[in-house]
Amino acid sequence: MFNNLKAMEPDPILGLMSAFGNDTNPRKVDLGVGVYKDDAGNTPVLDSVKAAEALLLERQQTKAYIGPAGLEDFNRLMQVMILGPAHPVLAGSRAATIQTPGGCGALRAGAELIRRARPGAKIWVSDPTWANHIPLLGSAGMEIVQYPYYDSVNKVISFDAMLETLRLAEAGDVLLLHGCCHNPCGADLDLEQWQVLAELALQRDLLPFVDLAYQGFGEGIEEDVAGLRLLASRVPEMLVASSCSKNFGLYRDRTGSLTVVARDSGQVNNAISQVCSATRGIWSMPPDHGAAVVATILSDMGLRAQWEAEVATMRKRINDLRTRLVDSLASAGAGDFSFIARECGMFSFLGISPDSIASLRREFSIYMVDSSRINVAGLSDDNIAYVSEAIATVCRDSRNSGQV
Ligand code: LMR
Repeated sequence: MFNNLKAMEPDPILGLMSAFGNDTNPRKVDLGVGVYKDDAGNTPVLDSVKAAEALLLERQQTKAYIGPAGLEDFNRLMQVMILGPAHPVLAGSRAATIQTPGGCGALRAGAELIRRARPGAKIWVSDPTWANHIPLLGSAGMEIVQYPYYDSVNKVISFDAMLETLRLAEAGDVLLLHGCCHNPCGADLDLEQWQVLAELALQRDLLPFVDLAYQGFGEGIEEDVAGLRLLASRVPEMLVASSCSKNFGLYRDRTGSLTVVARDSGQVNNAISQVCSATRGIWSMPPDHGAAVVATILSDMGLRAQWEAEVATMRKRINDLRTRLVDSLASAGAGDFSFIARECGMFSFLGISPDSIASLRREFSIYMVDSSRINVAGLSDDNIAYVSEAIATVCRDSRNSGQV
């Protein structure tokens, strides 16, 4: 049966983990996969998570099945964290949330729902977008089309071009947006642009599908969802895929949620029953542990305050590193990278050539995604000067050999 199968190329992002792991250079630097790191290069378990886990260990009475929608408390608390307690959508009972295996599970569940509700709907994704959006949504059978998003020359959002392209979308198509901390370019929509997109979605009958993987990593836990909340207050229907991988550091516990907003509570319930029937046929039920941890933290005032402080520490470290990288690159003679300080979240493109990226890996053991996306959190006191000098060197070599 398997004799005619060929080996797949490694995943463009996850493949970097093993390449980095196999590199024996003691100076190696991992700017690849999007996990938060502290200054020592570790991705520690948050203290609030450890405390919640200790409570769970003591209190948990059973490991019996929890059901396809997951943990009720988690779903309720996530919904409030995303939409805010006073959002009109909640007052109108127009939203429901289910637990999913990570943000990926939420994206897949959302795509399954769309396929059941409107087979043939196209999904419009930003150019560029997270590399895994394409296989994830594509494997659910959705046709994927791109709208222009990042102007890599001027390092800004190409908003006019984005709108012009989205005017080609047909009624019932889906508009995938990054809630905050755009992956991979780090350039986020401002509130005025969210407002324009809300009107566009309304006029053209597009379904917004917001991927919220970094709540708290941009400007703040509340600030990062201001655009999404504005959108939800304007449109009749919408989906939000949310991940707890980064802000709770629960990467391997696969913790996320899908929120469905519909015209009324009856339609929400019907939609949720469809999603649960679809996911029953894929993963049956989501894993419990991460969601139980999140529910424990969000429902306890002390743990919640501790977690919020930990998120603020991670956010501040990333933002500081952005400024320091700009300065350090300028001092090393690499040129003007000031746009990195204007972007937010874990990622930015360096905008350097594929040859420079290959040289950084080959000669300096510095790893980043082939698109030149770096994970800013992989920088540290120890490596920021080394990385900046290496970038300056490869950019100089590349200029001398006539490549940009
Ligand atoms: C990333 O973009 O690096 C992360 O979201 C990890 C992943 O699964 O790709």
